[in-house]
Amino acid sequence: MSLTHQAHADRDGSGRPLVRIALLGCGTVGSGVARLLIDPAAAVAVRSGIDFWLEAIAVRSVAKPRSAEIPSELFTEDAARLVEDPQIHVVIECIGGTGVAATLVERALANGKHVVTANKDLLATRGPELRLLASRSGVTIQYEAAVGGAIPIVRTIADSLAGEHILEVGGVLNGTTNFILGEMGAGASYESALEQAQRLGYAEADPTNDVEGIDTAHKLAILAQLAFRRALVTPNVPRTGITKLGREDLSLAKRLDMTVKLVACARLGGSLVTPAYVRRSHPFAQGTGAQNCIRVMGQSSGSLTFAGTGAGGAPTASSVIGDVVAVLRHIETGIVVGAVADHTLTNAWGVERTIPLRRIVRLVSLRDARPAREALRSAGVAAEQCDGVPAILTTQALDASNDDLRALLRAHDLAAESILPLWEDLPAEATVAPAQATAEALSVR
Ligand code: HSE
Repeated sequence: MSLTHQAHADRDGSGRPLVRIALLGCGTVGSGVARLLIDPAAAVAVRSGIDFWLEAIAVRSVAKPRSAEIPSELFTEDAARLVEDPQIHVVIECIGGTGVAATLVERALANGKHVVTANKDLLATRGPELRLLASRSGVTIQYEAAVGGAIPIVRTIADSLAGEHILEVGGVLNGTTNFILGEMGAGASYESALEQAQRLGYAEADPTNDVEGIDTAHKLAILAQLAFRRALVTPNVPRTGITKLGREDLSLAKRLDMTVKLVACARLGGSLVTPAYVRRSHPFAQGTGAQNCIRVMGQSSGSLTFAGTGAGGAPTASSVIGDVVAVLRHIETGIVVGAVADHTLTNAWGVERTIPLRRIVRLVSLRDARPAREALRSAGVAAEQCDGVPAILTTQALDASNDDLRALLRAHDLAAESILPLWEDLPAEATVAPAQATAEALSVR
């Protein structure tokens, strides 16, 4: 193996590769990663068949008190030096965000270092170009931890399903909002549920990203990039968060034998992040707390569902370590794992349209839903009453916004308390579509 390239590492006296790793960031995820790299019981070297050396951990302030398990001499405030250091072969980025982390990742890749990152913001907004940079530098960028915490989904789509014609990818991708919706369903207020999610380490530094659906859109964009080889980035994902939901929406769901989830979905015909009513029997309804559920529907594979803890330091650190082992094995064997040939990524054509869904309109008055039904029908929107509850269900998938529906009802002196989509799967015939199925045919019902 050539020693001329940084990413190929040096070798010790016995000829074994000696890999030097730098960790950037030591917060919730970073400190978990540091502990696992240091802990002999984690046996990272044994699992990868290669020795490594944790050279340094870059932090904003070395003065900040930290876990006694991590030797203090590892800490430095000079992250920029580490990504330029020719002695470093692998950079693990656990800073997050698209500011300083982006520059450091870019420099590390340009300098021929493998990068492992949990940074979904970065991958969802600049993934295609960073992967291209990695492949030009002859290194890999691994990001299993960016989606679904401990759930192994990134490499599953990139590698195991590489030969599959994927029809749809999505699910419940954000632990914080799933936790909040569960707590609200049990009677808690939105504010207290959010505070608790922050205390438990589920929420982002700025929880706006969680509750406005941005974090979910990031993860969906990453999955769609892999599944459809489209350069879908977060700003192109039609998105609504959970901030406008009330406890009444959750209690109506219960009466309908449904639940409310922040659902994400991407197909070749469109994508969407939205709070939605989901039937209790549906896989997306199953996860409680910070659990995520990710489903891939492939033409030959059928439906594959992955579930597990999607947020929190330990599960995410576990995924990062999995990536580190994959990179170390790559250095040992010279075989690239988990990388998408980025020159095949085309534009985001088709994926960025909104997926139309039917809607449940929660009405102000529970006495008689007929006038609302009639009002919608007069505008060409068929609707049916939901039995025993003050709500109607539009019986056709709608492209029109909730504002249009509200305005329509208001014009007939009717008020809607809330309007939420009802999540429904692709029709059965689309999931068993023959090979000649077109993106157009699969796009919408
Ligand atoms: N804030 C994220 C979530 C963390 O709640 O899912 C994991 O990406």
